[in-house]
Amino acid sequence: MAIGELVKSADFKSEKHVPVIELPEKIEAGKDFVVNVSVGKEIAHPNTTEHYIGWIALYFKPESGNVYNLGRAEFTAHGESTKGANQGPAYTEPSAIFKVKLNEPGKIIAVSYCNIHGLWESEVEIKF
Ligand code: FE2
Repeated sequence: MAIGELVKSADFKSEKHVPVIELPEKIEAGKDFVVNVSVGKEIAHPNTTEHYIGWIALYFKPESGNVYNLGRAEFTAHGESTKGANQGPAYTEPSAIFKVKLNEPGKIIAVSYCNIHGLWESEVEIKF
C-alpha cells in the first residue's frame, strides 16, 4: 500500500482535520511570502492529552520535478501533567507560519497528523 492511499482529504469547512493553507493575495517568483497553515479554522479540533494534532508538514511540488519538504511544525503540549491527563498548564494549538520563497509555479501541499484519525491533506496552486 502506498502512503498516499492513507492520506485523507475533504473540505475544511465540514471536516475538522483538514489543514487550511492561507496565502497572500499576490505571490511573486523569487520573493519571500508567508504561509499560514492551521487545523480547526472552521471547526475546532480537540486538543487534549488523549486526542490532538501532532504535526503539520508543508511541501512544494513544482510543475516539473520532485516534491520538496518546506518545513514541519510539531505541536507537543496537550495538557499532560504529573497530576494526570488534561491537568497540565500548557497546550500547543495546531497553527504555524512559514516564510517561503519559490522560483517556480507549482502546488503547496499541507499534511496534518491527528493521533487518532491519521493523515489529512490539502493543497493550493501557486501561480505568478
Ligand atoms: Fe482527530
